[in-house]
Amino acid sequence: SPVHAGNGKRVLLAEPRGYCAGVDRAVETVERALEKHGAPVYVRKEIVHNRHVVETLSERGAVFVDETDEVPEGALVVFSAHGVSPAVRDAADQRQLRTIDATCPLVTKVHQEAKRFARDDYDILLIGHEGHEEVEGTAGEAPDHVHLVDGPDAVGGVTVRDESKVIWLSQTTLSVDETMQTVERLRERFPLLQDPPSDDICYATQNRQGAVKAMAPECDLVIVVGSRNSSNSVRLVEVALGAGADTAYLVDYAREIRPEWLDGVRTVGVTSGASVPEVLVRGVVDLLAEHGFADVQPVTTANETLVFALPRELRASRT
Ligand code: F3S
Repeated sequence: SPVHAGNGKRVLLAEPRGYCAGVDRAVETVERALEKHGAPVYVRKEIVHNRHVVETLSERGAVFVDETDEVPEGALVVFSAHGVSPAVRDAADQRQLRTIDATCPLVTKVHQEAKRFARDDYDILLIGHEGHEEVEGTAGEAPDHVHLVDGPDAVGGVTVRDESKVIWLSQTTLSVDETMQTVERLRERFPLLQDPPSDDICYATQNRQGAVKAMAPECDLVIVVGSRNSSNSVRLVEVALGAGADTAYLVDYAREIRPEWLDGVRTVGVTSGASVPEVLVRGVVDLLAEHGFADVQPVTTANETLVFALPRELRASRT
């Protein structure tokens, strides 16, 4: 805005940011299920790790539960973008639940890899965060073959049956750099360690980290929009700090930004996690404009065009 031009304050807006193809599909899955079947539609776990998304869908009639045993027999339940283990599918079948699977196809791909290497009797070193839903689902495909490795410091505790038959796989939303460190350490211990057939850290995670890395060295402050339990969002804060931002904060909403964060700041970087609707970023940009940061410049490092088809349960009879 010309009114503010020349005050030296600017916003760098990371591109790409926000929704990935898997989140877009998962959120639309719940919306369509509500349209087609009416409320309530049960959802096991948060459909995606974002507070605003979960609250908005709850208002429209989605009921979020922790486990399928909280779903009435015969009711409709959606599995979240993070995926589920075979044990969860079996439990749902036993209760005769109708299911719609919103697991991201790129998570399913890692499940397939885990199954395949377990079938070939490999020890699978799954790099990921203990307790994260995605890791629980992937490990559940082959509980007897998977060892969870939660970061470089966990490498010392790993044991395998046959050092010539070891492969690493990973959660899709990890820090690319930290994962490479973990792999390096694993390879020092197990020189014959095999790499996954393709990248498990997904394109969206990699692209969002790439954009933040490009932007961060110029930033006094980086604001990442995202929820605390969103792995890829939390990684963006770490990547921003690691790449030279002076400070970086994670916020769910613009209202969490404290005016003192902006004291003496000239360049603010803004990005958002893969589960974050753009309306929340707009809220942040508007608030920054009110504080004199009206000059907004995109920092573009990749273009994304990937779109996933809806789950087949919704595709067939779509009206
Ligand atoms: Fe899928 Fe990656 Fe998004 S695994 S849900 S595309 S963050």
